[in-house]
Amino acid sequence: MVKRLENKVAIITGAANGIGLQAAETFALEGAKVVIADYDVKSGEASAEKLNAKGLTCMFVQVDVADRNSVDQMVEHTTSTYGQVDILVNNAGITRDAMFRKMTPEQFQQVLEVNLTGVFNCTQAVLPAMLDQGKGKIISTSSVSGVYGNVGQTNYAATKAGIVGMTKTWAKELGHKGINVNAVVPGFTATNMVETVPQKVIDQIVSQVPMQRLGDPQDIANAYLFLASEESNYINGHALHVDGGIMM
Ligand code: CAA
Ligand code: NAI
Repeated sequence: MVKRLENKVAIITGAANGIGLQAAETFALEGAKVVIADYDVKSGEASAEKLNAKGLTCMFVQVDVADRNSVDQMVEHTTSTYGQVDILVNNAGITRDAMFRKMTPEQFQQVLEVNLTGVFNCTQAVLPAMLDQGKGKIISTSSVSGVYGNVGQTNYAATKAGIVGMTKTWAKELGHKGINVNAVVPGFTATNMVETVPQKVIDQIVSQVPMQRLGDPQDIANAYLFLASEESNYINGHALHVDGGIMM
């Protein structure tokens, strides 16, 4: 059977851990060569080693998505090693939660730089390759916090709403060039990121989800895979909620 990402090269940012790592394995199992592009060298190298040991094709490249030079070098390393870039998943993200009245300008800026400027940097850096190929898939990770708001997340919600706005703009600018641009909007998902959330808040969140559970990283990776595959070729500018139906 033909694999869904056979002969494709995918860059997944933030793939050393959590959702990105699950996506790296999912994509590689479907035949993609995967670049684990992450700031975290220790987890990134260990994750790449683990996937390669399973016979999958991937490499770790250290990158700080907030730093344009670092992003350009990561993309250059990808094209010189694998020859092309077919898929970009803008998955890297951070939180610096605080109530609005206590949030420092540094906390606000830090999250903007990684979650929003990072998506701008990576997408702009892969564009020349995708335009040359006349084909490409760009997927960026939003969040239910950006759609509905969330206590303690002024900075994070701003970036995740901004990602949807950028996605729709790029879908309009790039659709006729053969590039699909979409976003995934995960609900609360069981990774390191939610470990900072007090248990009583988690319980309250789960009680609002019709499926009565947190998301699993595989739930989100499956949506990335669909939007990266040929099956979604006529889907453009969409924000796909994968949130168990929280707050309809
Ligand atoms: N809904 C309603 N009220 C809430 C609330 C919530 N979810 N969380 C906190 N509050 C209220 C508290 O009850 C408290 O009320 P009072 O002042 O009346 O007592 C007030 O807000 C202040 O709360 P804290 O005492 O906890 O304040 P703090 O300054 O110590 O901490 C905080 C603030 C850091 C924001 C902490 O409450 C917290 O971590 N909350 C969770 C934030 C969260 O949900 N983050 C999501 C991370 S996962 C993620 O980001 C992935 C994704 O995309 C969804
Ligand atoms: P995670 O914390 O497990 O993984 C995030 C990864 O991003 C880490 O490997 C980290 O090293 C990397 N990273 C952070 N800053 C970076 C930078 N400057 N440059 C390169 N890499 C960097 O988090 P998780 O949960 O896997 O999150 C993945 C994406 O999903 C994020 O964009 C997050 O905002 C989003 N999301 C997560 C939800 C959740 O509940 N876990 C819900 C909704 C969205």
